[in-house]
Amino acid sequence: MGKENITMLQSEPQSDLAVIILAAGKGTRMKSSLHKVLHPLGGRPMLHHLMDTLGALNPVRKVIVVGAGKEQVEKSVGGQAEIVVQEPQFGTGHAVQVTRDQLQDFSGDVLILYGDVPLLCAATLQELLAKRRSKTDPAVVVLGFEPKDSKAYGRLVVNDKGELLSIIEHKDASPEQRAIRLCNSGIMAMDGARMFDLLDSLDDNNAAGEFYLTDVVAIARDKGYGCAVTVATETEVIGINSRSELAEAERIFQNNKRQDFMDAGVTLLDPETVYFSYDTIIGADVVIEPNVFFAPGVTIEEGAVIKAFCHFEAATIRRGAAVGPYARLRPKADVGAGAKIGNFVEVKKSIIEEGAKISHLSYIGDAIIGTGANIGAGTITCNYDGFNKALTEIGPGAFIGSNTALVAPVKIGAGAIVGAGSVVTREVAADALAVTRSKQKEIGGWASAFRAKQTKK
Ligand code: UD1
Ligand code: MG
Repeated sequence: MGKENITMLQSEPQSDLAVIILAAGKGTRMKSSLHKVLHPLGGRPMLHHLMDTLGALNPVRKVIVVGAGKEQVEKSVGGQAEIVVQEPQFGTGHAVQVTRDQLQDFSGDVLILYGDVPLLCAATLQELLAKRRSKTDPAVVVLGFEPKDSKAYGRLVVNDKGELLSIIEHKDASPEQRAIRLCNSGIMAMDGARMFDLLDSLDDNNAAGEFYLTDVVAIARDKGYGCAVTVATETEVIGINSRSELAEAERIFQNNKRQDFMDAGVTLLDPETVYFSYDTIIGADVVIEPNVFFAPGVTIEEGAVIKAFCHFEAATIRRGAAVGPYARLRPKADVGAGAKIGNFVEVKKSIIEEGAKISHLSYIGDAIIGTGANIGAGTITCNYDGFNKALTEIGPGAFIGSNTALVAPVKIGAGAIVGAGSVVTREVAADALAVTRSKQKEIGGWASAFRAKQTKK
């Protein structure tokens, strides 16, 4: 479970806090033309999850270190952070060194995050910062965790007082050191006033031939400064290097969301089959049946029922409405209170007013459906002529017969009835009947005569 965000939203930027997000790694294992940190998680780029979490801490400076793909990252954050290029990449220590122009005069605290570790909670970062600001005044505080499998993580060497002595990279570790369970998440807080001095002492005499950021711990100790550790859960510091790790992070994200919604009074019949976005809003007493997907921008108000197999995107479902099974709501679909959208109905950019019903097999696009109107099975709004979109307006209480084509722009007055199978191209007055199909003919005995003739052949 994600930790609760105990942070108050800071209104003024915090002048004693800067953040560096490392994102210059090549991301080769993603095999993607999209920068790794821009791959979406819960419907938005992983980098934006981090930026959002930082919103709660409101640092005065945000610096993102990138290698290739600078333009993509710049475009995506749109002036919300400073972008620094690290080219070539000589390791995590070198990545922080390249922020010197931005931060050498900064004497507050510096949080160092990884762009590919997006599920961190603000509360965890607050804890890390609180430790950094505690009265022992450690130069470096590292966020540790105890993974089930220690893989190639750096190991945290801690003394019996809980002080951090050094970080040993897996490649450089002895078998005894590899047995240490407490690992480096990579996230740390440093005292900005001492940071560049510590970084100046880094070298690349190690198994990887890189400038390890992790060496700042031993360097700080040599200079007589303290270093400390705070601890996070493994799921919170999961790093994403491949599509399968992305899927694993998505699974964690979705499980957190499902749990949060159930805690808030939403019924999920089969939680594992319902997928949410980062911004999904769902009111209490909403019931969601299995296999429903929420793309970004969806709000569901209290007491609505979502039947199985629906897909929603940027849509609103109001109080007590019933939607599905097998319904698709596209952007700007607004389903009114107590309205009903049934199976195989697609709604786009339309207002369905209170209590209206579209129960079967329809496409409703660019339309306003009045209160209590009934839209028969197979009704289609013909909203597009290949160039322009046009509006269909259906008045309150109107009844549209099955298999009707409404050729927009067109209006159906309040309380009007349209006969089944009509193609409506002109306005229908309130309370009128409009039928556009041809008259029914009947030729008695024709069918049996036809059959007799064919059988003889
Ligand atoms: C690093 C840590 C290790 C820790 C692990 C957690 C070091 C030396 N090791 O190892 O202790 O357990 O993360 O996942 O720090 N990056 C740059 N520029 C570079 C190199 C890396 O910006 O030159 C960025 C990457 O984009 C990534 C992060 O830094 O976001 C970590 O880099 P990575 O190569 O994955 O480090 P690890 O070897 O896994
Ligand atoms: Mg890594």
